[in-house]
Amino acid sequence: MKILGIDTSCDDTCVALLEIRNSKLKILSNIISSQVKLHAKYGGVYPSLAKREHIKNLPLVFRRATKRIKLSEIDLVSVTNGPGLEPCLWQGVNFANELAKNLKVPLIPVNHIEAHILVNSPKIFPAICLVISGGHTQLILMKGIGQYKLIGETRDDAAGECFDKAARILGLSYPGGPIISKLAKKINNGSRTSIILPRPMIYQKNYDFSFSGLKTAVLYDYRSRPSKLRKSKQYIREMCREVQQAIIDVLIHKTIKAAKDFRVKSIIFGGGVVANEELRKQFQEKIRKEIPNTEYLMPDTKYCTDNAVMVVIAAYFHRQEVKRVNWKKIAVDANLKI
Ligand code: KG4
Ligand code: ZN
Repeated sequence: MKILGIDTSCDDTCVALLEIRNSKLKILSNIISSQVKLHAKYGGVYPSLAKREHIKNLPLVFRRATKRIKLSEIDLVSVTNGPGLEPCLWQGVNFANELAKNLKVPLIPVNHIEAHILVNSPKIFPAICLVISGGHTQLILMKGIGQYKLIGETRDDAAGECFDKAARILGLSYPGGPIISKLAKKINNGSRTSIILPRPMIYQKNYDFSFSGLKTAVLYDYRSRPSKLRKSKQYIREMCREVQQAIIDVLIHKTIKAAKDFRVKSIIFGGGVVANEELRKQFQEKIRKEIPNTEYLMPDTKYCTDNAVMVVIAAYFHRQEVKRVNWKKIAVDANLKI
């Protein structure tokens, strides 16, 4: 069985093709056309520009992803239909609707958040899922495939958005996460930073987050420094380390608390921010120390950020729900809930 997946929920045009043989998944292609350079000058994603790029890139990305097969070999088409940027989502969904109709194969709509989770192929439940990306910061209690309860989320900015906005304040490139992580590493381990940022909502008795105040704290600190100092490498690196650590501290505290409170058997990570090396390391240490009997799943870093392999895997988990070849046009829901 060959499944094609498409994701155009944000600024990456992604198409992947997987083959499933004896329940084993084999990635035949995984093509991502990134728009990072284009959006860099705006310090974030510019939706109408992203839509235009998807229109231009999707046919090319699709052709590359399928160049080694005959299109008639595709058994199933899957596409992200939300949540995400509405004009962008429509590009993938329109393309998938047409494709499935022409090939006369079923079409499975995929929830982008669920795809970030299912890319781990989870098996041990109940689980706490932490999904941290540019658009979302959510803690989800998962009882099984398709059984989710949102227990906490950000009240304002997402964790990835905070990385991106802090980077912008510091005059760094977009996306902020990778560059902040790189500069934070340049501070000697153990040397204390003179900058202290808040850890928003860390001790509140809920599983919600708030990162917009953290971004504002970065801005105030930056503005309060003489211009020569705030442009110095040392200041920028210290700020990168402190903002990264503030985000990590809050995420670790709330996730471990949720894992203990709900007595889960595993923790599942997903989303672009999980690519952060320091976050991975500190989470692993904390889990081993505080809840050593809890399993954890973290995707390989290349499957943390947006890709279409995760869309195919999510569709594969839901393949039974498509009982027969009954082609039906699907729609977009930019605010789709898990
Ligand atoms: O999952 P994703 O690719 O797209 C969304 O669904 O939003 O996540 C993108 C986010 C961006 O905000 C980016 O700054 C962040 O993931 N990110 C990182 C790292 N790599 C990407 N954040 C921290 N550290 C990283 N290494
Ligand atoms: Zn994503």
